[in-house]
Amino acid sequence: MAAIEPIGILELGVDDAQAGLVLSTEAGWNQNEADWRFFLSRGVVFGVRDGIRLVATAALLPYSAGNAWISMVLVTADFRRRGIATKLVDACLDVAKRRGLTTWLDATPAGTSVYGPLGFIPTLQLRRLRLTKPQEANATRQLSAGHLEVLVVRDASAMGFDRSTLLSEFAARSGSRVASDAQAMALIRDGRTARHIGPLLADRTDQALALIDAIISSETGPWLIDAVHAHDEFLNGLVRSGWNIERPFQRMRFGPATVSPAQLPFAVAGPEFG
Ligand SMILES: CC(C)(COP(=O)(O)OP(=O)(O)OC[C@H]1O[C@@H](n2cnc3c(N)ncnc32)[C@H](O)[C@@H]1OP(=O)(O)O)[C@@H](O)C(=O)NCCC(=O)NCCS
Repeated sequence: MAAIEPIGILELGVDDAQAGLVLSTEAGWNQNEADWRFFLSRGVVFGVRDGIRLVATAALLPYSAGNAWISMVLVTADFRRRGIATKLVDACLDVAKRRGLTTWLDATPAGTSVYGPLGFIPTLQLRRLRLTKPQEANATRQLSAGHLEVLVVRDASAMGFDRSTLLSEFAARSGSRVASDAQAMALIRDGRTARHIGPLLADRTDQALALIDAIISSETGPWLIDAVHAHDEFLNGLVRSGWNIERPFQRMRFGPATVSPAQLPFAVAGPEFG
């Protein structure tokens, strides 16, 4: 692990998955150890330690076609407002610059205050929703298994670049599945506190809502989804069905726009993955 001056920023390895999980758990986030392992093995994750304790992280996850996602920007409560997040995100941006990558992120309101001054510009907005009401699984409700290859193609069309590595890794995890219903499809995976639905691709709002209904009828939750705010009918439909809006996320971009997505997803893979 190489030390990077001047504030003891380290590049982390897969062995740091548990320590990363402690930080995301402190923030109340839904990532599990598998998520951290993915960032640490596929991305570049920087951290700051106080002795042996990991107190801050930020990850850069390179995707395809000159794009990357920044996420897992976490500073433990007693180390905040010392400029640590800013320095960690700067370290990610340095790597991105060297590799010629446009970087994206989905910011919490606190994160937006850090990223704006660094030069990130806002793009679309998301809403994180949670379904807390326990749902009775209804075995009679049929839900087809979707094909991962089809999901990968539809996701690439919605993002403007390929994420087959990410989606294949998600789908290979125990507890994951690709669900499909008429023209809609979604990936469902385990999180630390809730099952996560996304990405969700559909041609129309009614198809997207019908798929959500089928998914939550087919197994027990609790559930999380990160809906694209521009799909207001979808968002309203979820709220009418008992989902609660927990928090906004602001998608932001640093660097030139490299992509022109054909169709917005109804829900994303998660703010940490885009
Ligand atoms: C958001 C977070 C990463 C900031 O970490 P940090 O190390 O305290 O951030 P910095 O010290 O680099 O802050 C830089 C600037 O951002 C702004 N800022 C940071 N946290 C803020 C907050 N909670 N509210 C308002 N502005 C904030 C301030 O302008 C700050 O400069 P200042 O301290 O000189 O006023 C940290 O509060 C955290 O881990 N929060 C929980 C997880 C989270 O929301 N992560 C962001 C995900 S997108």
